[in-house]
Amino acid sequence: MRKALSPLCLVVAAGLAGCGEAPVAESPATRGVPAAAETGTETVAAAPAPGGVYAQVCAACHGVNGEGKEELHSPSITGLPVWYLEEQVKKFRAGTRGFHPEDLPGQQMRAISLTLTDAQIAEAAATVAAMPIRLTEEPPADFDLETARYRYANECMECHRYNGKGEIVFHSAPLISLNRSYLRRQLMNFRSGLRGATEGDLYGAKMVENMKRLTDEEIELFVNYIGALAHGDDPRGAREK
Ligand code: HEC
Ligand code: HEC
Repeated sequence: MRKALSPLCLVVAAGLAGCGEAPVAESPATRGVPAAAETGTETVAAAPAPGGVYAQVCAACHGVNGEGKEELHSPSITGLPVWYLEEQVKKFRAGTRGFHPEDLPGQQMRAISLTLTDAQIAEAAATVAAMPIRLTEEPPADFDLETARYRYANECMECHRYNGKGEIVFHSAPLISLNRSYLRRQLMNFRSGLRGATEGDLYGAKMVENMKRLTDEEIELFVNYIGALAHGDDPRGAREK
């Protein structure tokens, strides 16, 4: 029998305390999921609880306003459009993200995604997309802005655009609202194959290709530049003709 864990239980399992065998209230978000229904033990509420899927499932980790929680490694997800949110949650659900045993934050998100139906993902994505955006933190004042701008313009801009807002046609992520620690980890995950390395993940493969030759220092340079971009830097003039 497959038992769906509530998000809070997963948060606890993330290392705060043991989750134990204590009965866990069935999250409304897990109702109607075929695997759970097989058990035949669910009680179905007459009406959905207030707050919707986001408040009931996502807020525990991503924060009430989508700001993320450093201690849980859950990113700020404000500023992400519906298409990208849905695509990524479905990648977790399909095992294209969060598949690697060493990718613990990815596995957390994957566990949650397995409890969600398409309709619940769509509802949560719509809620997130309507939240006020929180921009990536500013970079340290003394970083090499000129080099970073040049490199972004020539190595990233073609897919992530001059404004770092991503491009639906390329399935490339908006970058300027993601927090620094998450950005750093994702770039490292692409480099090491913790993300983007499953067969058939065409879009992830593009990032693996881009990251595999980068040093830690170069990754930091890009993380810094995304912060600068979020706060108004314009890389267009630095593009090689
Ligand atoms: C148990 C904690 C937890 C819960 C609950 C949770 N998430 Fe996550 N989520 C994470 C973590 C941790 C990551 C970072 C994964 C990584 O590093 O790859 C993440 C990543 C994501 C990403 C990827 C962001 C990006 O920029 O690619 C999206 C989108 C997302 N979560 C949406 C949701 C939505 C929508 C819900 C509610 C339906 C939700 N999450 C519930 C922990 C959680
Ligand atoms: C050929 C197109 C392409 C280029 C060039 C490219 N990216 Fe990406 N990038 C993508 C795509 C597509 C994704 C989404 C991957 C996925 O679905 O997992 C992505 C994802 C990312 C993510 C993860 C965002 C998230 O929400 O988790 C970061 C960070 C990122 N790119 C930064 C960069 C940086 C920095 C550069 C330049 C050094 C760069 N990219 C160059 C296409 C590209």
